Amino acid sequence: MRRVLVIGIGAGDPDHLTLQAVAALNRASVVFVVEKDAERGDLSGLRHEICARHMRGDYRTVALADPPRDRASAAYAEAVGAWRAARAQRWGEALRTELDEDSCGAFLVWGDPALYDSTIAVLEQISAAGEITLDYEVIPGISSVQALAAAHRIALNRVGEPIHVTTGRRLAAGDVPPGARDVIVMLDADCAFRTVADRGTDIYWGAYLSTPDEILIAGDVGEVAGEIVRVRTEARARKGWIMDTYLLRRR
Ligand SMILES: C[S@@+](CC[C@H](N)C(=O)[O-])C[C@H]1O[C@@H](n2cnc3c(N)ncnc32)[C@H](O)[C@@H]1O
Repeated sequence: MRRVLVIGIGAGDPDHLTLQAVAALNRASVVFVVEKDAERGDLSGLRHEICARHMRGDYRTVALADPPRDRASAAYAEAVGAWRAARAQRWGEALRTELDEDSCGAFLVWGDPALYDSTIAVLEQISAAGEITLDYEVIPGISSVQALAAAHRIALNRVGEPIHVTTGRRLAAGDVPPGARDVIVMLDADCAFRTVADRGTDIYWGAYLSTPDEILIAGDVGEVAGEIVRVRTEARARKGWIMDTYLLRRR
């Protein structure tokens, strides 16, 4: 049976790789590198660097171009479903043709595979389709949320309190549990923090966390929102892509 290792590689710093991840990498003979257009150079570069630095035996890398995703569609769940199905089709074919029966392959997943990442779901879909038999293991990684907290030197929760993790889309729609005081926002292409109406809310924002380009801004969201938008727009234009995450903390 083909074995697949889903390895969290951390949120940008090659030193995020855990010892468990290094050991897992060295079990793989084929590394599948998923390439998104905008981020292709930088993020796939990091994956190749990680392999070169930590893999001691022979291995091959196989690039998997990410299928296009309909980001304009109002039917968000359907668009994501179609994109995952296209991924499952491509990855299933690659696993069948590039990975021999009884050999081991690895997917290097940005951050942690359990947080806003579809690798596990896509492998489940491939398994369920039944054209190939595979088994997979998951190796956790340092997520961008942990990198954000460390960079700002904050704890994510206050004493005995919960944290709510959500997306920019949901924040903009006002879809946050009433009374939530600590809200982490990911996948926000539209600066949804501008919609926060509550006075007395701080934002801890970070872009390109754990990379040489890291940018951090913190302060009252009403006061620093404009600065974040300006800095974000400039950085995105300069690099061609951006990844940012933030914590909204009601005082
Ligand atoms: C598809 S999700 C992947 C999350 C990832 N699995 C993790 O554990 O961090 C992508 C989102 O993660 C966040 N992100 C990932 N890496 C980041 C980084 N280095 N700096 C800031 N945000 C990051 C951003 O909110 C981005 O939109």
